[in-house]
Amino acid sequence: MLEIKTINELIAFCENVKKEGKTKGLLPTMGALHEGHLSLLQRAKTENDVVICSIFVNPVQFNNREDLEKYPRDLEKDLHILEENGCDVAFTPSEEEVYAIEPAEKYDFGKLEQVMEGVARPGHFNGVATIVKRLFDWTQADRAYFGEKDYQQVIIIKDLVRQFAIPTKIVVCPVFRDADGLATSSRNQRLSAEKRSIAPKIHQILLKSASFTDTLSLSQIKNFVINEFKMYKDFELEYFEIVDDQSLQPVLNKDSNGIVGCVAVWLDGVRLIDIQRYY
Ligand code: PAF
Repeated sequence: MLEIKTINELIAFCENVKKEGKTKGLLPTMGALHEGHLSLLQRAKTENDVVICSIFVNPVQFNNREDLEKYPRDLEKDLHILEENGCDVAFTPSEEEVYAIEPAEKYDFGKLEQVMEGVARPGHFNGVATIVKRLFDWTQADRAYFGEKDYQQVIIIKDLVRQFAIPTKIVVCPVFRDADGLATSSRNQRLSAEKRSIAPKIHQILLKSASFTDTLSLSQIKNFVINEFKMYKDFELEYFEIVDDQSLQPVLNKDSNGIVGCVAVWLDGVRLIDIQRYY
C-alpha cells in the first residue's frame, strides 16, 4: 500500500490513475478504523480499480474542543488495517497540509442543515463539506463511500455534489452493526466496558419502535422512543426526530415516500448516533 501525505502527490497519483483508464474509489475517514469502515472498503474494492482511503481528523467539523481532543487516533494501527485489507492508497495529510489554504469556505444547505446535527453541532456540516469538497477536487474520484449511520451527512454530501455538479457518485452503504446491534463508530472505543454493554439498547429501542408502524401514529412512535430513553438513566437523549428521508424535515403522517428516525444520545460522556428506517 502506498502512503501519501501531500496534496500535490495525491493529485499527481490520481491523474496517473485516470490516464491509465482506471477508476478511483474514495473512502473519506477520520481514522480509528472499525468493521464499518472495512465494509465500505470492501465495497469500494469491488467497484473500483484503485481505492484511496483518507485519514484526517478534520478540526473544522468539531464544534466541541473536548470532542476533538478525545477523538481516538492511532495512525500506525489504521495503516496496518488498511494494508491487511487490500487498500491501495492511504492519504494521511497533516492539518498544515490540508489547511495551508485557510478553510474559509461557506456552504449553504438550507433546511437540510437546520435540523438535528445541524442544530446540535453548529458549523459541523460546513466543516464536513469543506474537507469532503477538497478531497473530491484533489482525487476526482469516480465514487465515494459513506455509511448510512451518518444519515444527515449523507444527504448533505449528496446536496454538495448536486450544488457543485461534482461528477463523483455517492455510494451509501447500510449501517454496520456489531453482533449485539450497536452501530459501529470510532467513538465506541471511548465507552467503558460497563457502558459498552448498555449501548446496544439504542438499536433495540429503535428496532422495537419500528414494530409499531402498523399500530401507532408517528408521534406516538416518537413518544415511545423518547420515553424508553428516559427509562435508562445512563442515556441522555439529545434528540430523536422522525424525518422525511430526503428533505430531513420532521414528518407526522405517513405520506412521505421514505421515513427515517434519527437519534443522538449521550452515554458515558460519548455522543452516539443511530438511525431506524420506518418506511
Ligand atoms: O464521517 C466522517 O468520518 C467524517 O465526517 C468525514 C466524512 C470523513 C469528513 O471528515
